[in-house]
Amino acid sequence: MRALVRETRTEPSQLVLPMFVAEGLTEPKPIASMPGVVQHTRASAREAVREAAGLGLGGVMLFGVPEHKDAVGSGALDPDGILNVALADARDEVGDDLLVMADLCLDEFTDHGHCGVLDDQGRVDNDATLEIYGRMGVVQAESGAHLVGPSGMMDGQVAVVREALDDAGHTDVAILAYAAKYASAFYGPFREAVDSSLQGDRKTYQQDPGNAREALRETLLDVAEGADIVMVKPALAYLDLVASIRAAVDLPVAAYTVSGEYAMVEAAAEKGWIDRERTVSETITSIRRAGADIVLTYWAAEIARRA
Ligand code: PBG
Repeated sequence: MRALVRETRTEPSQLVLPMFVAEGLTEPKPIASMPGVVQHTRASAREAVREAAGLGLGGVMLFGVPEHKDAVGSGALDPDGILNVALADARDEVGDDLLVMADLCLDEFTDHGHCGVLDDQGRVDNDATLEIYGRMGVVQAESGAHLVGPSGMMDGQVAVVREALDDAGHTDVAILAYAAKYASAFYGPFREAVDSSLQGDRKTYQQDPGNAREALRETLLDVAEGADIVMVKPALAYLDLVASIRAAVDLPVAAYTVSGEYAMVEAAAEKGWIDRERTVSETITSIRRAGADIVLTYWAAEIARRA
């Protein structure tokens, strides 16, 4: 009876698997603060992407971990940079059978760990960063991304990336906008995942956890700028925003259950304090029930295998 009347179900095609691909690795490297998640080699990433397609997932979101980082994140624009070659590998592996998505941000590529380039006073320079994001989107599209996900929270990023893609003839490459992205402690383990040592914090460009109306405003701006999908991040602590944004826009809404959310569940389960499988499924169900059409989760493949 409960199954018959259940209101919220989750299909593998609604899940996106975020993946880390690291340059210069000879074998996959476990990420200690995210048990079960690894930095992939190019070869193991190919396998994981093929598996994701076989499981019927909605997509994979690729993050690159370059060997060398610098102040301007040069690796991001290099067609031979790790993220771009990983996108090409993924696309070569699955063609159009699985949506290949690219994280579009500089923090994995900069030595200071910020999502943009800095001005001479060490502050993130919004407009100088936009110019790089536009070029980065084009390189990612040319490498094989079906969709790019600008995640740096620079003002105007969706419009700039859309225009750059269109000008380069990539009118069919979609944009998933990290629309309401908070300056969150829940991204902690992600720093280890991408070998980042962030100097300072992201409070000049990511949102204050106390603000809800601001999230709506950020989202409506991204819609007006040409976003195809809007996303809330993190997920669990921001389900009110998932619900209000679902009600306010008619685009697909995604939510990203981030590294720290994953780590909390895994750590408590490892200690035997919670039932892992039930907690994972309740987590994803709650995010879907709040209104997310799409969920980005490190558990995507596992959930699909269970389905
Ligand atoms: C930015 C980006 C971050 C995450 C996804 N994209 C880090 C940040 O904004 O600080 C975090 C994802 C996670 O914690 O799982 N490139």
